[in-house]
Amino acid sequence: MHHAAVFSVGPRAPLELRQVPTPTPVGDQVRVLNEWTSTQPFDLHKADGALAQYPDIMGDGSVGIVVEVGDQVKRLQVGDKVFGYMWKTSQERGHQTYAITQERFLAKIPSNISMPEAATVPTNFVTVFHTVIPALGLPLPWPKPDSYIPTSTDDAILIWGGSSSVGQYALQILSYYGYNNLIAVGSARHHAHLKTLGASKTYDYSDSNIVSQLQRDIGNIPYFFDCIGSVSSSILPIAQLANNGNHVAILLPLIFSPPTPTAAPKYGYDVTAVADWASGVRVTGVRTHAYEDNEQLARLLQPEIMPALLQAGVVRPNRYRVIEGKDVLERAQNALTALREGVSGEKLVWKVADV
Ligand SMILES: NC(=O)c1ccc[n+]([C@@H]2O[C@H](COP(=O)([O-])OP(=O)(O)OC[C@H]3O[C@@H](n4cnc5c(N)ncnc54)[C@H](OP(=O)(O)O)[C@@H]3O)[C@@H](O)[C@H]2O)c1
Repeated sequence: MHHAAVFSVGPRAPLELRQVPTPTPVGDQVRVLNEWTSTQPFDLHKADGALAQYPDIMGDGSVGIVVEVGDQVKRLQVGDKVFGYMWKTSQERGHQTYAITQERFLAKIPSNISMPEAATVPTNFVTVFHTVIPALGLPLPWPKPDSYIPTSTDDAILIWGGSSSVGQYALQILSYYGYNNLIAVGSARHHAHLKTLGASKTYDYSDSNIVSQLQRDIGNIPYFFDCIGSVSSSILPIAQLANNGNHVAILLPLIFSPPTPTAAPKYGYDVTAVADWASGVRVTGVRTHAYEDNEQLARLLQPEIMPALLQAGVVRPNRYRVIEGKDVLERAQNALTALREGVSGEKLVWKVADV
């Protein structure tokens, strides 16, 4: 048996649809008919020349129906609607008719969210836990004890890129855990929304005085969560603000210049060399894929924590735009083109299998 998969075949080359073998799930593996997916900046980074070994199947998230299970699968059964973040092998990618992955990367879709909404969640929900716990050193215990108040409840945590997908999930999750001094940096049109997600103060990154405003209003900021990684418009201002002992977590890759419809991007990875950091600033570049180094997160994050916080309404999915096209290849290409042109405060989602 074979199925269709969308491939990136070279830097900024048109995507291609190819047939690949469909493996049978074994052990704790599940085969999912992918119905919805999203195109993430990660897909654009790969398609435009970073992080990819071509040819490369696109998509690290999947939303669909379980169609076959291995003999050690315990929680899921054929017919379940599931969503997850999957990334280990090309078989697990979302931009193809079927994904075959381990059960622990999948959760049942809660009754209060739709499939396209589910497509906005897994990658960036996972990223928040992986950034906050190891890179910022802040606890997010699960289950959250009754009346839990974190030690750093009043410490300022600056979310640069609050209206990005990661930023919106970070605000909601940190707020749920009782971090009460969340400073969000995003464009002004999203400020009211960011306050509903937990931001206590908002700033506009297009304001040329943003650094002096933050220095004047907030003073020392112990924690910086850079959801953008733009050398000129997030990292350099953060480097002006960060002092001895502060933690700075930057989502990789570092973007020296972003992809545009006419220009290839320039990326980097060395977070210590990218700016003139003050002595004693603790800077970490975040690669989400390492989250499985934490045994508890590996076991619980996707099957249990993610659906529980969605079902409880603690975390709301991102706003989204449905990308249309006559077939899966055209939808994938259109989503990539739209992302290259720039998005604001929304995820780009599209139908994979024509069911
Ligand atoms: N390394 C990892 O493991 C990992 C994991 C997940 C994500 N990431 C990376 O994290 C980045 C964000 O991903 P995402 O899915 O959250 O992106 P996204 O939702 O597509 O981000 C779009 C938003 O970025 C905001 N933005 C752009 N430039 C900004 C700036 N200079 N300052 C503040 N906000 C800015 C825009 O805000 P406004 O609309 O307010 O203008 C826009 O709404 C991507 O580069 C992605 O690859 C890395």
